[in-house]
Amino acid sequence: MRKLAGRLVIASHNEGKVREIRDLLGPYGVEPVSAAELELPEPEEIGVDFIENADLKARAAADLAGLPALADDSGLCVEALGDRPGIFSARWAIADDRPDVRDFGHAMRRVWNELEALGPEASRSAHFTCALALCWPDGHAEWFEGRVEGMLVWPPRGDKGFGYDPMFVPAGGTQTFGEMDQAEKHRISHRAEAFRKLVAALG
Ligand code: IMP
Repeated sequence: MRKLAGRLVIASHNEGKVREIRDLLGPYGVEPVSAAELELPEPEEIGVDFIENADLKARAAADLAGLPALADDSGLCVEALGDRPGIFSARWAIADDRPDVRDFGHAMRRVWNELEALGPEASRSAHFTCALALCWPDGHAEWFEGRVEGMLVWPPRGDKGFGYDPMFVPAGGTQTFGEMDQAEKHRISHRAEAFRKLVAALG
């Protein structure tokens, strides 16, 4: 991988994500700065897959800031639903009558209703995917992807995680991501795998 040193824009307006990435990359001589600190606008996510969406966020930030930039995109892919909601995972949390609220109870119910409509034989297999894109101002880019396989359950269980965590049991486990100790989730998650690949490439 191309050498990375000095300032790196984290193309996210989520402070939690920025803090986590700062802790992770600090030891590699990288100084993360957030897109919010630089007052960079958020581009529209019009890509057709996770890598494209991560790439367009990182590319926009790298071009505007004149610095390397890192962005991520993630979501839940349900096998029997043709990998939906996929890149629309956050959008499925918006109900027609409440456009300003993200309601993951609503999103999980929608996933389960669509699965039930396929009948009892439909596979409950699903995976979370996380894509990372690292873009440089001169046009160079590198991508990393992580994935965790599992099964969907109903009703949702646990309140420790976020998003679709309460309906997702990782392969080989019994607890949902919402019930599990979060340090354990962070060891096995799609995001952890993508970051492990990035950190391995940093050498
Ligand atoms: P984004 O990558 O921040 O745009 O997140 C996309 C959406 O995918 C989130 O709003 C969540 O609904 C879902 N998602 C991504 N990762 C996870 C996870 O680890 N647990 C539960 N839901 C997730």
